[in-house]
Amino acid sequence: MFEDLNQKVAVITGGSKGIGNAIAIRYAQEKMKVVINYHSDQAGADKAVEQIKEAGGDAVAVQADVSTEAGVQALLDAAIDNFGGLDVWVNNAGMEIQRPTHEVSLEEWNKVIDINMTGVFLGEKAALNYWLDKKQPGAIINMSSVHQQIPWPTFASYATAKGGVKLLTETTAMEYAPHNIRVNALAPGAINTPINAKKFADKAQYEQTRSMVPMAKIGDPEDVADAAVWLASNQSKYVTGTTMFVDGGMSLYPSFQGGKG
Ligand code: BGC
Repeated sequence: MFEDLNQKVAVITGGSKGIGNAIAIRYAQEKMKVVINYHSDQAGADKAVEQIKEAGGDAVAVQADVSTEAGVQALLDAAIDNFGGLDVWVNNAGMEIQRPTHEVSLEEWNKVIDINMTGVFLGEKAALNYWLDKKQPGAIINMSSVHQQIPWPTFASYATAKGGVKLLTETTAMEYAPHNIRVNALAPGAINTPINAKKFADKAQYEQTRSMVPMAKIGDPEDVADAAVWLASNQSKYVTGTTMFVDGGMSLYPSFQGGKG
């Protein structure tokens, strides 16, 4: 379906589970070669490598902390050493800490910003330098969230990081557009992933979240992966600096449904 992706090389941060994992498997269906980054879930990453090979792609799992320059360099090196180059870089790794803002420690704040925002900067920087040096085009996909736009009390560090990812995406899209390097973001809403496992195991909380989605359902990681494959491919060749919301309408002020307000 996306023939131009055949044999292309992607790095996916946080690829051992959730949305990153679904993107890796979707890319494998296009016969891509994928560097699966994981932080601590080696078993998940090994399983993803197997799934990718079964799906027709190729993969290698690499442990790295994306909030360090050495970490992202290891991912780039793995792409070059194993698969001979780099075409797509997906900054997906993320985490969240819930706490009233006045109680958040500086350490917690820094951790969320480091992984969700600085990690995106470092990933972009590694990919940009590679493509500029090789004088070749590339596609970067940053995992944002509906919370790049929707305030989220008790998740200030996360919302702040995602707001940063939005402007980082737009700024670098503009800066590198002359080099045919495209930078876009995906903004998932409520998706069935490990980050939400505890919340969604509670039926009342699950239903409450579901009621905030105009399409009245929680999304699947594959819904996000379907957008990530399009943004990686030539079919989006004139698209840069945009955020694609994959949220069942969650970001559309659902409380106004039916003409309320
Ligand atoms: C968060 C989820 C949350 C969703 C909608 C996502 O960015 O990771 O935990 O359910 O936004 O609020």
